[in-house]
Amino acid sequence: MKTIPEEYQIKETIDQRQYLVNGELKTWKGNTTEVFSTISSTEEYQPTLLGSIPDMGEPEAMEALDAAMNAYNRGQGLWPTMHVKDRIECMENFVRQMKTKREIIVKLLMWEIGKSLPDSQKEFDRTVDYINDTIEEYKQLDRNSANFQKNDGVYAHIKRGPLGVVLCLGPYNYPLNETFALLIPAIIMGNTTIFKPAKHGVLLITPLLEAFKSSFPKGVVNILFGRGRAVASPIMQTGKVDVLALIGNSKSANALQEQHPKSNRLRLVLGLEAKNPAIVLPDADLDLTIDECIAGTLSFNGQRCTALKVIYVHEDIKDEFIKRYTKRVDELKFGNPWDEGVKLTPLPEPGKPDYIQELIDDALEKGAKIKNKKGGQRYDNYIWPAVLYPVNKEMRVYQEEQFGPVVPILSFSDIEEPLDDMAESNYGQQVSLFGKDVYTLSPLIDTLVNLVCRVNLNSSCQRGPDVYPFTGRKDSAQSTLSVHDALRSFSIRTFVAFKDNDLNTETIQQLLESKLSNFVSTDYIL
Ligand code: G3H
Repeated sequence: MKTIPEEYQIKETIDQRQYLVNGELKTWKGNTTEVFSTISSTEEYQPTLLGSIPDMGEPEAMEALDAAMNAYNRGQGLWPTMHVKDRIECMENFVRQMKTKREIIVKLLMWEIGKSLPDSQKEFDRTVDYINDTIEEYKQLDRNSANFQKNDGVYAHIKRGPLGVVLCLGPYNYPLNETFALLIPAIIMGNTTIFKPAKHGVLLITPLLEAFKSSFPKGVVNILFGRGRAVASPIMQTGKVDVLALIGNSKSANALQEQHPKSNRLRLVLGLEAKNPAIVLPDADLDLTIDECIAGTLSFNGQRCTALKVIYVHEDIKDEFIKRYTKRVDELKFGNPWDEGVKLTPLPEPGKPDYIQELIDDALEKGAKIKNKKGGQRYDNYIWPAVLYPVNKEMRVYQEEQFGPVVPILSFSDIEEPLDDMAESNYGQQVSLFGKDVYTLSPLIDTLVNLVCRVNLNSSCQRGPDVYPFTGRKDSAQSTLSVHDALRSFSIRTFVAFKDNDLNTETIQQLLESKLSNFVSTDYIL
């Protein structure tokens, strides 16, 4: 084992005892859970202890819910009624403080979830950009609504208002970026929030507690630690949550929704599983296709909801594709996140290699072969990506979202085969389509846009740039996220209307001149 560079060594554990409720950093005195990394710090393999986090339950969950509800105060709270300009200032203050924590957060991203150094840096920087872009977008939204419309003798001053209390739960593969892609727009639109970090990637949130505390009025952001079942379930059972914002799997999303007693009141912002296919047509440019399929299937070991999770290759080019693709897979470099040029890194879930092994064994039993030499090789915290061919619909690797390093390949002779499979699939997020002939591509594109929400032409699937809509059909998502759309997903159109008469004209004039109302205002921020 190579020595770990000085700056990335774990010299002391982080024993997190504080949590943020009602603007106060409280000290936890109850049980705690140890946080381990699957990366070893010693010659002989053993997981590294990184620290510990509070193991909270119902009383703290209720405390956080009360704080969020009081801060919202049935729409009368300081935060939901605050002028947009002031809410933006709070967010600017937060992002300024957040930027000072880059080094420690990047280090914890590497240790807690095994993300490579460049990708961890990218996750941090992309999140800061996301916050700044959200601020600019909110200013634009506010500018666009700083006016009055008149139709059929009725004036309207239409803006967007908050929804209430938002429960935010993010995924472990982007514990900073995707959680904040929910939390930040929810906060800035005037909602109050309760946030519980993902099961891995928890400690990296702790350097930000102070920034959350000092940037927002009390109760606007409440941060809890513990198991979802212990903390999120009791909150949902009260029926007092207005929005469930969750990026993760549909099992947890369903379980949480079902606990809310007033389903019509609950708004959902969900990013769930996907099984994005690559479809490789006979005239595809193979060099480019293989580059994109390597990135699509295996960046961050395939632990991305947008990862390519099944490849359909046309019969005519399948041998060539498999030969070249498998060679490239076996040339990828495996190592610790800080190792130069590393592409494959330890899996943060200790049980993941066994799960992937089960998928491989099942596929082999049902007739697939491992096409690459290293496929399925076991390490202490990893399993080398196995490229499986021919895969059929009976195999678990075809049916399940593997969310890890294993690549199922199917061949087709008739394009209807992958199209039928996509139509039957429970998922509908994105597709990658590789080919050149416009006469073949055009009817395909016209169909695929109705089966998924993003057709990537000669490109791998991905969420970014974050200004583009990120959503899905069927079981893959509810609502749309992007810098622009998220502000809408976490708010509702609400307005002041008045009939055109002297009394109203006079009253509105006075409201505008006195600047007493934060809502009725034609001032805007540049
Ligand atoms: O886990 C799913 C992520 O939204 C994927 O985002 O395409 O930027 O990796 P990405």
